[in-house]
Amino acid sequence: MQSPANTLSLDEYWMPFTANRQFKAAPRLLTRAEGMYYTSDDGRQVLDGTAGLWCVNAGHGRREIATAVADQLRDMDYAPSFQMGHPLAFQFAERLGRIAPPGLDRIFFTGSGSESVDTALKIALAYQRAIGQGTRTRLIGRERGYHGVGFGGVSVGGILNNRRTFIGLPGSDHLRHTHDPARNRFCQGLPEHGAELADDLERLVQLHGAETIAAVIVEPVAGSTGVLLPPRGYLERLREIATRHGILLIFDEVITGFGRLGTPFAAGYFGVTPDLITTAKGLTNGAIPMGAVFCARHVQDALMTGPENLIELFHGYTYSGHPAACAAGMAVLDIYEREGLLVRGGELETEWRQAMLSLRDAAHVTDIRTIGLVAGIELASRDGAPAARAYDVFVDCFQQGLLIRVTGDIIALSPPLIVERAQIGTIVATIRDALNRVR
Ligand SMILES: Cc1ncc(COP(=O)(O)O)c(C=O)c1O
Repeated sequence: MQSPANTLSLDEYWMPFTANRQFKAAPRLLTRAEGMYYTSDDGRQVLDGTAGLWCVNAGHGRREIATAVADQLRDMDYAPSFQMGHPLAFQFAERLGRIAPPGLDRIFFTGSGSESVDTALKIALAYQRAIGQGTRTRLIGRERGYHGVGFGGVSVGGILNNRRTFIGLPGSDHLRHTHDPARNRFCQGLPEHGAELADDLERLVQLHGAETIAAVIVEPVAGSTGVLLPPRGYLERLREIATRHGILLIFDEVITGFGRLGTPFAAGYFGVTPDLITTAKGLTNGAIPMGAVFCARHVQDALMTGPENLIELFHGYTYSGHPAACAAGMAVLDIYEREGLLVRGGELETEWRQAMLSLRDAAHVTDIRTIGLVAGIELASRDGAPAARAYDVFVDCFQQGLLIRVTGDIIALSPPLIVERAQIGTIVATIRDALNRVR
């Protein structure tokens, strides 16, 4: 089969979060996807160890989703989202409300994770103003956090390369991250050490004054930075401090939402209920771009005041609640329910952990962290060339027929939730081989 890469013009498409020149010198192209596998442009089967970009939780090529989207586009392609509605958006929100953590059943639709984050931050600011706390304009994130690429998300995000070129929102500040390999290396389950890091929020209250802080946003499990788990008791403590100081707690569940940890949401996994949850990705299985913010009733209620003919929140997107995205999302929820996928990660969690930890003696490995169906495998960096070793592992795995994700020198794994036990074995064996081959 002739590779399309030989006939494509690669110049025009400016690729996101990609070393464009390096990629275009040796492109990796995917042309089909079915179940757990991609097909590459040279006809090879590639096992998907990353659910695309943490989003294809129900596996690829689900006919039900394609049919639902096609039917919807034929029936009604688009409806205005401001001052007009269509039934599917209400039905989808109602169904999402039913699986939401307790009380978080007010749903604001967006087009992506980044939009969900900026929406949640804006709702937090609007809420504080509505309850007479207008001085609370400061937004707190956490070092190494990833909250997408909008200016709000970048301001509370904590990854240097994503921040240094761009001006952040004034007043934003950060908790310290929770990664402490010296105390928690190769932990089984949640790290034992580090709950006290939540007291950073107390420290920021002492520094800035609670009356200036609107919200704190964290990923319950930090994904994009390389799978950092919350220490035992950390999230509970953060919740307690936020509540005590009138600060809204936002969980960014763009990755952890929809079954990644073996529960519908990480909030349920940890038994900690935030005031707002941001989602996207698994919401539509990645088939159609869409995000959703799950909002506590008390937060929305605070904004449903004033004259009834006035818009309560001056915020929204042309594509909020897009009919095709809602149709996709409804079909995805059907699949999740029918196949028990929102809890399957829990059934496989122990096996997955043992399989991943079997790599602890593999070449270059310095730490392994797992939760639900997620794993982070940290490698020693090559002298003077951070991230080079993991990148070589990534390329090697792809050539061997496995898609992994790397960030810095950390391998991040998050297969579709339909992964079979034998495929977990293949993932481990392929990575071990690759680690043996790279220098
Ligand atoms: C935790 C988190 N928040 C936000 C985002 C941004 O989502 P999107 O790329 O859909 O804008 C991501 C993407 O990976 C994410 O992992």
